[in-house]
Amino acid sequence: MKVLGIMGSPRVRGNSDILLSQALAAAKEGGAKVGKIILDRKQISGCKDCKKCNKTGICVIRDDMSEIKEKILEAHVIIHSVPVYFWSMTAQMKAYLDRWCVFFDADWNWHTIYYPQMHGKRIGLITVCGDPDVHTADPIVHSFKSTVEMTGMRWLGVVMASAAEKGEIANNEAALREAYELGKKAAAP
Ligand SMILES: Cc1cc2nc3c(=O)[nH]c(=O)nc-3n(C[C@H](O)[C@H](O)[C@H](O)COP(=O)(O)O)c2cc1C
Repeated sequence: MKVLGIMGSPRVRGNSDILLSQALAAAKEGGAKVGKIILDRKQISGCKDCKKCNKTGICVIRDDMSEIKEKILEAHVIIHSVPVYFWSMTAQMKAYLDRWCVFFDADWNWHTIYYPQMHGKRIGLITVCGDPDVHTADPIVHSFKSTVEMTGMRWLGVVMASAAEKGEIANNEAALREAYELGKKAAAP
C-alpha cells in the first residue's frame, strides 16, 4: 500500500503537519510505504481553464505539479492536511486541487489513461482551524468530499481539529489519536 501525504500549510512542523505526520507514521507502522509533499515548497500555479488537458490529459503549465501528478497516480491512498484560512483552504492547497483538472475530460470523467489508477483511490482529509468550533472547516470537507463523490474515488475519513499557535495540536491527545487511526485505516486494504 502506498500512502501519500499532501501538506497544505506553509507552517512546516505546524498543526496540520503534526497531524499528517502522525497519520503517516501510523500508516508506516501498518506496513504502508509512505511519502509526504509540502506544497509550500513547490511551485504550483493556478489552473488556467484553457481546456487543453480535456483532450490531451497533459497540462500546459510546466511546474512542480508534473512530478506531484506522478505521485498522485502511484498512491493508493492520499491524505491531505490543511488549515482553515478565511473559512476556506490555503492558497497552496487550492492551487494543487484545481490542477487535478488534468485527470478529467470535458465531461468530468477520468481520462481513459488515468481511470485505472484514479478510480477507487482512497482520499482522506485533516483540517485544523483556530476557531474552537472544528466545523469552521466544513467548506474544506465539502470540497474534498464532493470531489471524491463526483469521481468515484473512496472517502477514507476526516479528522477535524482546532488549534491556533504553531505546534499547539501536539497537546491535543484526541486529535493525535484520530490522526493515528486515519493512518492505520489508510494502511489497511
Ligand atoms: C491567513 C490566515 C487566515 C486564517 N483564517 C482562519 C479562519 O478563517 N478560521 C479559523 O478558524 N482559523 C483561521 N486561521 C487560523 C489557522 O487556521 C490556525 O492557526 C491553524 O492552527 C494553522 O494551522 P497550521 O499550524 O497547520 O498552519 C487563519 C490563519 C491565517 C494565517
